[in-house]
Amino acid sequence: MSKSQDTDTKSVLVVGGAGYVGSHACKAFAEQDWRVTVYDNLSTGHRDAVRWGELITGDLADESALRRVVASNRPNVVAHFAALTSVGDSVRDPGAYYRNNVTGTLNLLQAIRTEGPCPLIFSSTAAVYGDPEQTPIVEDHPKRPINPYGHSKLMVEQILADNDAAYGLRYVALRYFNAAGADPDGEIGERHDPETHLIPLVLRAARDPNFSFSIFGNDFATPDGTCVRDFVHVSDLARAHVAAADYLLMGGASTAMNLGSGCGASVLEIIAGIEQALGRSMPKHFGPRRAGDPPALVAGADKAKELLGWNTMYSLPTIIASAAAWERKARGG
Ligand SMILES: NC(=O)c1ccc[n+]([C@@H]2O[C@H](COP(=O)([O-])OP(=O)(O)OC[C@H]3O[C@@H](n4cnc5c(N)ncnc54)[C@H](O)[C@@H]3O)[C@@H](O)[C@H]2O)c1
Repeated sequence: MSKSQDTDTKSVLVVGGAGYVGSHACKAFAEQDWRVTVYDNLSTGHRDAVRWGELITGDLADESALRRVVASNRPNVVAHFAALTSVGDSVRDPGAYYRNNVTGTLNLLQAIRTEGPCPLIFSSTAAVYGDPEQTPIVEDHPKRPINPYGHSKLMVEQILADNDAAYGLRYVALRYFNAAGADPDGEIGERHDPETHLIPLVLRAARDPNFSFSIFGNDFATPDGTCVRDFVHVSDLARAHVAAADYLLMGGASTAMNLGSGCGASVLEIIAGIEQALGRSMPKHFGPRRAGDPPALVAGADKAKELLGWNTMYSLPTIIASAAAWERKARGG
């Protein structure tokens, strides 16, 4: 009998828990006394980011390993973060994205159905909306992804809905906007390689004169011409997963919801915020627009408030300060 059956301790299997958002979620679950088990192939995750539970190294492609992990852990909830996440790579190699993100999730669902069963929390994305017709974007906005990454996530949302209808497997799909920042205690943070996210790129450019990055376009129909995005602190995202798990355990119906702050910040505003935080300015290099970059992506976040009682706790200056502190720590500064 598993520990979760022995005691009242709730147990979560965090697939992809060695990655950026997943590791913060592990901390949030552990802080609420959940027992955490991580399943991760460490392709983009980090062994030393698994600090709040056991790490089982394995791949989504290995359905029998997934079955064993679900059977031996008997989780109350599975939180599924594991995916390939680069929009650009997904355009260059869509097969890898559909295999990992869609086929891999089918394997996980099969294991949950046969060995669990238990509800699932899925890391979805604002990329399911594509080029939005209006912002803030609410959940019933048309879903028209414009790259294979977004398609792979929307396909999984459809698969989840079909699985619920057929097998009663309940789920919450959380559509994150731009995850940013680092654990306020400095224990974990963002470590993508290569890094494509704005805040770590700007922080690196601020300290390394030999490193520069391009701002993709300054002729968008936005107040300063650069793209506007909704940055949400990774620890706020993490807390939403615990709230979603509690919602599902209380019998909540399957649903999908946005996770964002509801406020947009432009690329130039982010750079200005970092310049202010670090007390130095940096050169700005403008390049052409990137294919498929919508001018503005801002979440309508009322649904998460209503269903999960979730609100963001951390503001943009805190996001920047925590990311800067983590960046300093990661390079031993
Ligand atoms: N970071 C963001 O801004 C953002 C925004 C929207 C959605 N998301 C989604 O959130 C999730 C987490 O994103 P992240 O930024 O933490 O990415 P990440 O790359 O840091 O984490 C993904 C984790 O999944 C693991 N993984 C990948 N493929 C696997 C496989 N086949 N088998 C086992 N483990 C595997 C990786 O090793 C890694 O630890 C992803 O599903 C992503 O699509 C992220």
